[in-house]
Parts: sequence; structure tokens; C-alpha cells
Amino acid sequence: MGNKKSAHKFVIANWKMHGNLKHNASLLGAYASELANLENTQVVVCVPYPYLAQAQTQLQDTDIAWGAQNMAKDVDGPFTGEVSAQMLSDFGARYVILGHSERATAYCESDENIAQKFMVAKKQGITPILCVGETLIEREAGVMELKVGKQLDVIIDLYGVDVFDNTIISYEPIWAIGTGLAATPEQAEAMHQFIKGKLVRQDTASENTVKILYGGSVNPQNAVQLFEVESIDGGLIGKCSLNAQEFKGICQAAESC
Ligand code: PGA
Repeated sequence: MGNKKSAHKFVIANWKMHGNLKHNASLLGAYASELANLENTQVVVCVPYPYLAQAQTQLQDTDIAWGAQNMAKDVDGPFTGEVSAQMLSDFGARYVILGHSERATAYCESDENIAQKFMVAKKQGITPILCVGETLIEREAGVMELKVGKQLDVIIDLYGVDVFDNTIISYEPIWAIGTGLAATPEQAEAMHQFIKGKLVRQDTASENTVKILYGGSVNPQNAVQLFEVESIDGGLIGKCSLNAQEFKGICQAAESC
């Protein structure tokens, strides 16, 4: 369960540091009952670490997958406070968000650390959801592709472009996260095309199987417009994932596109 092989779109909830046992129980219950009939959309919920067991208990018999919002770059060892990829697997987590801008800025995560985490997750069989995106200043200066390109290049230079097979990238303009000001479908499409262009394989016979999502103030009103764009494979949803009805509206938008 929890993994639709043929999912056309992904809708991924990022709960950030929200929730408590009681509230989660009803939110996960609502996800499980309201999102049961999606055929083309893989729903994933990325919860705070302490609630992985709760997500596992409540979602294991559903098609909804769960994951974490970060993990350690090391496999194990004396790293107080860190959580390893193996530990995530112990709780059935199949996905992990890496490099979210809220972590990159507040906890000084470097692109190199994120690249290391990306590989460790893959080796553990956990699908990385790599976040990339530019600040408003970078966009206004017209250097957004340089910024996103560098974030991808660190991984490409270390591991090659094929490492992105069966992974997820979420384009998250930092100015759009939590601001209510989503990127326009045109802005998102331009960046998605740029990202796709960077991930073209050496052996051009087969296409990279990476999914490229958009994240930043997606809501039930703007979701269809964004998801209709062919190069947008779904969304990473913060605020609206905390409300079962809004999240359902976004999942239905994905399902209809
Ligand atoms: P938001 O968050 O939907 O609240 O803008 C998106 C994200 O941080 O991934």
C-alpha cells in the first residue's frame, strides 16, 4: 500500500512543525476517508518525526504514503539529535523532504550536505523530495536559473544526472512559500522547463523519470491552473495541507488534470 506505481501526479503534504496527537488523529483520519478514491494521484504526507508511528498506524492500509521532512546525512554514529534514513524506514517512511528553504536558511544547510542526504536516502530506498528555489531578490535580479541550476549541479557533479531517476524535485520559489503569493503558471512552467533541460541524460534514448512538483502557496483555487501545466507533476503543500477540506480540493485538482 501507499505507493501507486503509475501515479500521474503527486500531492505532498508538508505539515512543517504543526500538529499534536489528537489533531493529527483527526486530520489523518480525514485524509484516509476523503482521499481514498484517487486513481491518478499519489498522496504523501510528511510529518514531524515523532508522528511517523502515528502516520504509519493510521495510513498503512490506505494508498496514502508518509514520510519525513529531513534526515541525517550520515548513516549512523555519534550525531546527537539526528535521525537516520534507516530510522525513517523502520516506521515505513517512503519519502523525505530534503533542502527545504526553511531548513536551509534557519539551520545553515549547505547544498553539499543536501546532496549527501539525497544519496543516503536513495540507498535506503527512500524517495528524496529535493526542494530548490530562489529568493525574491534573486528573481528580481534575474538570477533564479543560476541559483536553481547550482542547487542541481552540486548533485549532478557528485553523482551524475541519472541519480534523479525515480526521485522528486519540488520547485519552491522562496518568495511564494507561506506568503499567499503563488508563482504564476507561466513562471512555474519556465522554471520547470529549465530543470527538465538540466536533467537530460547523456544517453538521450530514455527520459529521466524524475517528477517535478511546484510548491509555494498552492490552494484549492489556484491548483488546477498550476497542475494543468504539462511540466508540473503536482505540488508540495504547506498551509493548506493542515485543513482536510482544502487539501482534498488540491488533491481533486491534481486528479482532474
Ligand atoms: P505553503 O508551503 O503551501 O504554506 O506556501 C509550501 C512549502 O513550504 O512547501
